[in-house]
Amino acid sequence: MNATDTIRPAGVEIAGTGTALPDRELTNADLEKLMDTSDEWITQRTGIRARRIVTPENGENTTALATRALAAALQDAGLEGSELDLVVCATMTPDMPTPGVSAVAAHRVGATGAGAFDLSAACSGFVFSLNTAHALIAGGRYRNVAVIGADILSRFMEYTTRGRSTAVLFGDAGAAMILRASDDPHKNLIAQAMHADGGGAQHLYIPTFERDAQAYGDDTGLPMSQLRMHGPAVFRFAVGKFPQLIADTLERADLAPEDIDHFVCHQSNQRILESARERFGIPHEKLRVNINKYGNTVAASVPLVFHELRTEGRIKPGQLVMFLGFGAGLTWGSSLWRV
Ligand code: COA
Repeated sequence: MNATDTIRPAGVEIAGTGTALPDRELTNADLEKLMDTSDEWITQRTGIRARRIVTPENGENTTALATRALAAALQDAGLEGSELDLVVCATMTPDMPTPGVSAVAAHRVGATGAGAFDLSAACSGFVFSLNTAHALIAGGRYRNVAVIGADILSRFMEYTTRGRSTAVLFGDAGAAMILRASDDPHKNLIAQAMHADGGGAQHLYIPTFERDAQAYGDDTGLPMSQLRMHGPAVFRFAVGKFPQLIADTLERADLAPEDIDHFVCHQSNQRILESARERFGIPHEKLRVNINKYGNTVAASVPLVFHELRTEGRIKPGQLVMFLGFGAGLTWGSSLWRV
């Protein structure tokens, strides 16, 4: 479709999903051999038991995961790459500052007529990309848009005692979703929110230059290009903002917590998810936790959960699904859909 044509669709549907996980699994027992930590410490504080990490020597990088996830999502949607109008990739760990992961992934799946750009909003990146892609389709200029979340945090931490406060938390993954203009007015995004507070940037960042680390008061002694995180500050931010975000999104849609069929949440810490579950009385089957298997996979975490629910047949037509992300920046956002 020519991007100058504007035919506003009646609705927007989630037409396909796909994921790409590295083969290599690092369990808590594996980490115990690499650093001074314990399965008990990690499990009690985070709920994480294992995570996947890439093997760079096998060519696994962010672009490779993004491409695999995109190809799988296209197949699931029954679309060819050439039918895509746009590819958006949420990532904070592109293989290079340029080119974008999205442009190379689009090329590799034959999306030669598509535009492509990366979107950097850390663990909120997928939700921000979903909202952006939806707006472009609803505006009538794009019909088939791929949204990818792909991140490889293992490149930015070390698996030693010095790096243990972050190395145990994160995993690598890619996941993708195909959005499509639809004639069905019941399928659509019905409320969304995107927020940022750069005043909290120093709580979670990856410096390239010493002067930037110093400006954020870095006292970790870690080398440049390794993730710094003030765990307790991020924890407080997340347990405070997460329920507020759910409440605001429900209010925007004039809905109650019990109206929502699935809360598809960024997986950063099981305790953060439990606090929201308790606050709103959300039953277990409506808030999937898979952090035990994959850790925090940053931009891939939200679509990874959705794909899991979808392939199990738990996402039914007409259901209400609230996607929620929060992370570095600081950033936080939601996307509420009738699917
Ligand atoms: N294994 C064993 N001990 C560890 C450890 C590890 N992997 N990592 C840190 N520790 C130690 C610390 O050195 C500290 O020791 P000390 O008291 O002797 O100084 C102790 O454990 C407590 O550290 P603390 O950071 O206070 O623990 P915590 O209870 O706050 O839990 C997190 C740490 C990271 C699990 C928690 O703060 C958290 O989940 N924060 C949010 C992180 C997050 O969600 N980030 C991504 C956002 S998208």
